Amino acid sequence: MNSALKDNLLAGKVAFVAGGTSGINLGIAKRFAQLGAKVAVVGRDPEKAQRAALEIGSGALGLSSDVRDYDATRKSMEQAAEAFGPLDIVVSGAAGNFLAPAIGMSANAFKTVVDIDLLGTFNVFRGCYDLLKRPGASLIAITAGQAINPSPLQVHACAAKAGINQVIRVLAMEWGPDVRVNGISPGPIANTEGMKRLAPDPKTQAAHFERIAMRRWGEIEEVAECAAFLSSASAAYISGAILDCDGGSQLGDASRRDLSRGMV
Ligand code: NAP
Ligand code: COA
Repeated sequence: MNSALKDNLLAGKVAFVAGGTSGINLGIAKRFAQLGAKVAVVGRDPEKAQRAALEIGSGALGLSSDVRDYDATRKSMEQAAEAFGPLDIVVSGAAGNFLAPAIGMSANAFKTVVDIDLLGTFNVFRGCYDLLKRPGASLIAITAGQAINPSPLQVHACAAKAGINQVIRVLAMEWGPDVRVNGISPGPIANTEGMKRLAPDPKTQAAHFERIAMRRWGEIEEVAECAAFLSSASAAYISGAILDCDGGSQLGDASRRDLSRGMV
């Protein structure tokens, strides 16, 4: 994709990406490194984290901890700060999701997703505060349209992402002006674990394209570009915002559009 961002946009910055060992968050970590940042990525699986660090290159650090565990998460952040210096950019993107009707979901299944997504975001943001380079630090949580739009079979993810949206807004108020706190809400993104789980059937995918204003799924690189912008000086007056990178998915069902007769 074409980028309007300068090659050295994030030179000298230190970035910590929770859940940065695969998918969208790995794409974000790679883009940060391309733009000059030193990057640490974290996931539960240590080998996957090492592979991700090699893929990112530029001396990236691959760390292992579970965002549900505050002390372990904090330790990973301390390791990143020891290696690279105070953190300028922190992304909270670890998440879990699976389709299940509420009536077929155990309390532990609901809690598991809420703990990874919502408690995990609190742990990452709370844990990083005194390791941040202030003023000027940028925190980003990866949320989703499920925070706003009720999605059957995802009561756990909808509840968790709705909570994340409020964590973003509350912390933007509490921690401004030293720290900016924003969110990115990706729409359906191609070649990700998330969409493998939510739309495994190719026929479902084709029908889904029709309902999106842009008539396609997004690319990992398109979300990464938003994260780079939000972390840069160009976004210096943006805090408490949730940037939809979703091709207009949240506008409603575009397949209902009939330009000859207007919207029905
Ligand atoms: P993914 O590839 O499965 O990435 C999840 C990452 O989080 C992995 O690095 C995973 O590594 C890590 N992780 C999971 N549980 C963790 C835990 N308890 N502690 C620490 N790390 C953990 O997923 P994705 O589809 O790219 O999604 C990435 C983010 O974008 C998520 O926040 C998701 O909700 C959001 N999103 C995705 C889409 C989409 O179309 N895919 C749409 C909207 C929003 P380990 O397994 O090794 O822990
Ligand atoms: N349907 C219903 N319940 C399910 C389920 C499914 N498809 N998958 C897991 N669960 C339940 C389990 O049965 C368990 O509940 P129980 O103790 O009452 O039986 C609970 O969820 C926790 O499962 P467990 O496998 O122990 O959790 P985990 O912490 O090892 O893994 C998950 C977390 C379940 C979210 C796992 O899918 C994961 O690691 N996901 C990360 C990747 C991902 O989801 N990426 C997409 C991001 S959008």
